[in-house]
Amino acid sequence: MHVLGFESSCDETGVALVEAHAVGVPRLLAEALHSQVEMHAAYGGVVPELASRDHIRRAVPLARQVLQQSGLTLADVDLVAYTRGPGLAGALLVGAGLAVALGAALGKPTLGVHHLEGHLLSPFLGDAPPEFPFIALLVSGGHTQLMHVDGVGRYALLGETIDDAAGEAFDKSAKLLGLGYPGGPALARLAAFGDASAYALPRPLLHSGNLDFSFAGLKTAVMMQARKLGPNVCEQARADLAASTQAAIVDVLVAKALRALRESGTRRLVVAGGVGANLRLRERLDAGAAALGARVHYPPLALCTDNGAMIALAAALRVQHGLAQARRDGAFDVRPRWPLEELGAPLS
Ligand code: KG4
Ligand code: ZN
Repeated sequence: MHVLGFESSCDETGVALVEAHAVGVPRLLAEALHSQVEMHAAYGGVVPELASRDHIRRAVPLARQVLQQSGLTLADVDLVAYTRGPGLAGALLVGAGLAVALGAALGKPTLGVHHLEGHLLSPFLGDAPPEFPFIALLVSGGHTQLMHVDGVGRYALLGETIDDAAGEAFDKSAKLLGLGYPGGPALARLAAFGDASAYALPRPLLHSGNLDFSFAGLKTAVMMQARKLGPNVCEQARADLAASTQAAIVDVLVAKALRALRESGTRRLVVAGGVGANLRLRERLDAGAAALGARVHYPPLALCTDNGAMIALAAALRVQHGLAQARRDGAFDVRPRWPLEELGAPLS
């Protein structure tokens, strides 16, 4: 079975083709991505209407590129998958509309995929796919969650952020430091030159005794510190504040993820979502997990942030596990807000 997947939930247009058999891990045949980062950078963040319009321009050429790379044609596609949510409503509608129209034209079924399920399963595209069950740390621009994953479609929420997401904390702090959008990678680059112990920033909910997160207070502390330093701050102080901010976010993420591992008795941790590309986070998680006799599984670095491969993969795995409700009626909807736990129950 060949699954063509479209991702368009935010500021990346991703298309990919995956090959799946009745059993075994699906194989990525080809993928193509267009990031809108440059377009949105002028505005300091994602402009939803511009995002939708750009997805319209990019999706078809990217799909052509993917087919060409794989050596297949549209006639070889058995299922067209798209991101149904969560994400920006207009951006989601572009991908969904396109996928469903393509499915109708080809006489092939379509399947709407949960964006976070895509992130969560993306380590299966890596060299060392995890076995079930595992703990998943989902850290993206909009979500920070710890999940217990028993199998495809079997997700239990253990804890999540009560305010800002980890990616948001990176992005907002980066803005306060005068760094461009997207802030996470920029802050991480600057942090490499700084002293992480230079500024004492809060580690919210570190000792809360549960697996919830909170990053809003950290952002306020960074703001106060940035104000204190003033507009003529020297480059070293900026790097020190960036390093201190990264350390505060990473400390909390690592402590909670290791706590979840300990409490569950599970030996496998999966890290997914854009913040999972952070190298400091990876180093600390690897060391912490190793001390517990556990192992951390990541998606390939390029597939940490949004991409079409994870959407095609999630669709293929759902079909493999009898959980997919593919449609042929040309109808679709999008779910801009869509809790991952809603996927927990098998579909009839
Ligand atoms: O998963 P993703 O691509 O999109 C969403 O679904 O939200 O995650 C984007 C988030 C942004 O907040 C971005 O700043 C953050 O991931 N990010 C990073 C790094 N690369 C991306 N944060 C910290 N360090 C990085 N290297
Ligand atoms: Zn994402």
